Amino acid sequence: MNVLGIETSCDETAAAVVRDDRTVLSNVVLSQLDEHRPYGGVVPEIAARAHLVHLDGIVGQALEQAGLGFDDLDGIVATAGPGLIGGVMIGATMGKSLALARGLPFVAVNHLEGHALTARLTNDVPFPFLLLLVSGGHCQLLAVDDVGRYEKLGGTIDDAVGEAFDKTAKLLGLGYPGGPAVEQAAQSATDPDRFALPRPLNGRPGCDFSFAGLKTAVRQAADKLPVSEDGILAAGDRADLAAAFQNAVADVIADRTRNAIATFREGRGQAGTLVVAGGVAANKKLRATLETLADGADMPFVAPPISLCTDNAAMIAWAGLERLRRGVRDGFDFKPRPRWPL
Ligand code: KG4
Ligand code: ZN
Repeated sequence: MNVLGIETSCDETAAAVVRDDRTVLSNVVLSQLDEHRPYGGVVPEIAARAHLVHLDGIVGQALEQAGLGFDDLDGIVATAGPGLIGGVMIGATMGKSLALARGLPFVAVNHLEGHALTARLTNDVPFPFLLLLVSGGHCQLLAVDDVGRYEKLGGTIDDAVGEAFDKTAKLLGLGYPGGPAVEQAAQSATDPDRFALPRPLNGRPGCDFSFAGLKTAVRQAADKLPVSEDGILAAGDRADLAAAFQNAVADVIADRTRNAIATFREGRGQAGTLVVAGGVAANKKLRATLETLADGADMPFVAPPISLCTDNAAMIAWAGLERLRRGVRDGFDFKPRPRWPL
């Protein structure tokens, strides 16, 4: 079974072909970063226009790199939400049109389900598993019992963790996108412990997250530091503050995930696997922290390769494939959904 996936829910125009034996035959991702960078964030109208211009060519490239034509496909899958509605409409319409024209089944995939099932594309992870989904727009702990069967154990009550990284980067003058910039700055830190940042909700019961207070604490710490004439922090201060922030985030996530492991076990009577997904899963400090946590809980830990953690279409193709082989099909009247909880 070969499936073409399309992903256009944010600022990556992506198409990929995945086979049911878990081979990624192609995975083409065109980032629109350069177009959004001057604005310090993703501009929805610019994103939609760029998807419209590039998607056709990206789909062609994905098929070419896979060495396949439309006749070799068994289904077409597109992200149908949640996300920026302009982009989602473009991707979903492209998917439906191709499926209609070629007489292929169409599957509308929830972007979050794409992230959630990535670990089953890269590793042999059985259901149920415990998922930490951390991206620019989402921050959740979920029990994944089967395809389409998710129980939310906790979520953020304010910012998503990727958002916190992005805002902190902006505050420190580290540019956009923030996550990789904060991680890189943190690498040259010499004394991250000189900033005592809070660990919101740590030690409290439950699996919810909060990052707004942490971001404010970074701002207050930064405000006390000397800046150059054009308002820029010294590189050393910036590095220490970035590392202090990253350590606080890792502590918070470890504390919340520890509670989720207990809840997951209680409810399911088995250890399961700890899986991390979403763009923030690219963060090495976070990966190491989760690995230690899983080790301590005697639980296997799976973190997909970074190229499959950030937005891509291989994860969408795979989620669609998991649905297709269970006999799921969606109609051409499926409406794109800007909001769509799992
Ligand atoms: O999953 P994703 O590509 O898009 C969404 O669906 O949101 O996640 C993007 C988010 C951004 O907030 C970005 O700053 C963050 O993931 N991110 C990172 C790293 N790489 C990307 N955060 C921390 N450390 C990283 N290395
Ligand atoms: Zn995403």
